[in-house]
Amino acid sequence: MPKERTLSIIKPDGVKNKHVGNILQRFEDAGLTIAAMKKTRLSRTEAETFYAVHRERPFFASLTGFMSSGPVVVSVLEGDGAIEKNRALMGATNPADADDGTIRKDLAESLEANTVHGSDAPETAAVEIRFFFSDKELISTI
Ligand code: CMP
Repeated sequence: MPKERTLSIIKPDGVKNKHVGNILQRFEDAGLTIAAMKKTRLSRTEAETFYAVHRERPFFASLTGFMSSGPVVVSVLEGDGAIEKNRALMGATNPADADDGTIRKDLAESLEANTVHGSDAPETAAVEIRFFFSDKELISTI
């Protein structure tokens, strides 16, 4: 498996419900390394830019409203097959469809408040990491 980077967001519900430590522990237990991390709050405009690919979807306004409703914790995860590893840890987008033991099955409230976001491919990971972090903030092990 190639060494990769992926972007993780612990969404406003995950932060509000105090699941940050639980989620970060899952990343480390799976062998992923946290190369960068910050707590921040997205403006509505920033959320709209981050999720621009969904602009035409009916849930876009609700999604970007939710994502800017409170603080998030963003991190860059590194390791062998980090993108797929993180997606497996997260589980299906809709918590109702997620496998037992995944973050979304264990912790998420709904399809919108689904606790975590993770990049879906190397190209999107690069764009999403750049959205939140400068080179100087990345302590890379790759
Ligand atoms: P995420 O992985 O962050 O990517 C886009 C988000 O949109 C997704 O998680 C869900 O939280 C949300 N989403 C996807 N489909 C729907 C939908 N049908 N209704 C509301 N929100 C959705």
